[in-house]
Parts: sequence; structure tokens; C-alpha cells
Amino acid sequence: MNQVAQPQFRHTPVLVDEVCALLLTDRSGIYVDGTFGLGGHSKAISSRLNADATLIGIDQDESALTQFDPSLVQQTLHLRCTNFENLDQVLNDLKLTQVHGILLDLGLNSFSLDDPERGFAFSLSGPLDMRFDRSNELTAETVVNEYSQEQLAEIIYRYGEERNSRRIARRIVEMRTTKRLTQSNELRDAVARSVDPRFRNKSLARVFQAFRIEVNREIAVLETVLNKAVDVLAPGGRLAVISYHSLEDRMVKTHFRDLSQDVPRQPGMLDSEIKIPVLKRITGKPVIASSEEVALNPRARSAKLRVAERTSHAAN
Ligand SMILES: C[S@@+](CC[C@H](N)C(=O)[O-])C[C@H]1O[C@@H](n2cnc3c(N)ncnc32)[C@H](O)[C@@H]1O
Repeated sequence: MNQVAQPQFRHTPVLVDEVCALLLTDRSGIYVDGTFGLGGHSKAISSRLNADATLIGIDQDESALTQFDPSLVQQTLHLRCTNFENLDQVLNDLKLTQVHGILLDLGLNSFSLDDPERGFAFSLSGPLDMRFDRSNELTAETVVNEYSQEQLAEIIYRYGEERNSRRIARRIVEMRTTKRLTQSNELRDAVARSVDPRFRNKSLARVFQAFRIEVNREIAVLETVLNKAVDVLAPGGRLAVISYHSLEDRMVKTHFRDLSQDVPRQPGMLDSEIKIPVLKRITGKPVIASSEEVALNPRARSAKLRVAERTSHAAN
């Protein structure tokens, strides 16, 4: 990561002022940007911190991290190319036990979406890849060609929340009997031929999202990082999560709600029924982008920001 390429990509960060206002509690603190991307949020966070603060940027996509010019931040900056599910490992390696804030701006960056070679966009033709981390083995091509019809239907239904999941899975299996599907436009055809043309684009977005989630184990890694984040936050430290689809937002909402519950001991209660709140919700309803921001950056339309603060109680 020593070589800094000339930035070729662009990504406009969402809800920047809101993130900074809700995340930063100690101007000399240690902050983790778990989805560093092109560093848009980190730059904004850095501009509001003292010079003795520390920033840690994590992204599993090396093509993102190598775009960033570290001289843009005046604080100590550690960049790590890894999955954010390894948050604890990253902090261990840096000999840090606690941090003051963690940001997760989930999903993918605009330059990966716009790159046909990555296979994320249904509107572009390219290989069926969809990996955030291109050193991983599992690609969308493997999922599309090697999973059973039932598994495909389950993924499309569960991760895409798409009603026509069975019909789409059947079509994929029919198509792949004559030829292995290797291109994103072949997956697009399978979907387009299975759904009402009036809702085609919505279905395409849902199906591509579903395969992306499967390929990158997005649900499992989010669950892991949410748990690890609570363990490494200092009391009063905050976790801010921006999600872009309902599946992720529901997970964050449920996690924050469950960990902020206070169920004191009552006579006859089992230990497992007692709950000590280790989080305090800072946002009730999620923070969403203003109409002005959405007009300037359409990606912001689906963004939902939730923030919670670590209490001083010890976890069970
Ligand atoms: C929406 S972009 C973040 C953009 C960033 N906030 C900015 O301002 O440039 C999400 C980034 O998170 C990365 N990412 C997604 N899931 C990840 C994971 N599990 N571990 C590490 N990085 C991940 C993606 O590679 C992508 O660069």
C-alpha cells in the first residue's frame, strides 16, 4: 500500500455531516472506518479531529485503498486491506484494545458498480464475478452455475426479497443446461424472461443484490462485525452504520434494539433472561438524506444511518 496511484475513481460519500456529528465524541480519539472505500468519510472525519487522533481505514477491496493519498489526513492513519469481520485482529495487530468510534458505510463503492469487469451492475455487460475481494474463490458464476435450483430460489427470495424467486431460479437452471452462464447479461436475460416487464428493473436490482450478498457472505460478516464492534468500543464510544437495503437495516436495527434492552433480574428468572444494556440508541428512527443531497447524489436515496453508543456496563 506504499504506492499511491493518481486517483482515477470517484465516490461521493453520503450523510457526511450527519455521520461526523453523531460519531465523533472525542476529538483526540481513535476511529475506525471499516468501509474506507475512497476515504470520503475518513477525510471528513479527519478534518474534524485533532492532530493527535488516530484513524484506521479497513477495506477488503485493494483497488479502493490504493487510490487514497495519506497526506490528505494530518492524523496517524493505518490502512488495512481485509474484511471488516477481522476488526478485532486489526486492532490486536496495532496493539489497541478500545476505540472511540466505528463507521460502517455498507455496500459497494460507485467505481466498482460502474466497472463492467466486476459484474455488479445489471445494466453493464461483464463477467459474472461480484466479489468485493478478488482473492476470494466464490464468484457469482459459480453460484449461478453450480447451486441447485432450490438454493438459487432461496437466495433470490431471502437476500433479494424477490417474489418471483422460483420462476427465476427455474429459468437460470434451464438456460445453464445448454451453456454455462458466464456473463452478467445472461443473468439479466434469465431474470428479464421470468418477470413482468413493468417490474423488470426492480427484479433485476433485487436478483443482482441477492447474488452479491451470497458471494460476499454479507449477512454473516455484518453479524460478526456488529458483535465485535460492541466489544471494542470504549464506554461512550459510538458505532454508526449506513445501510442501503432493508435486509441490512433490519439487522442493524434489531442488533441495536436487542443490546440496548434492560431486563433486570426478577424472582424466578433464568440468567439467560436477564439483559444489561451494553448499547444506548442515539438515533431512534434512522437518519436519511435530505432532498438536496439526494438530488446531488442519487445513491443517497436509500441510505439509512443508525448510531448507537457503548454504555459502561460490562457485556454478559
Ligand atoms: C459504500 S463504499 C464506502 C465508501 C466510503 N465511505 C467513501 O466515502 O469513500 C463501501 C466500501 O466498503 C467495502 N466493503 C464492503 N464490505 C466490506 C467488508 N465486509 N469488509 C471490508 N470492506 C468492505 C467495499 O469494498 C467498498 O469500498
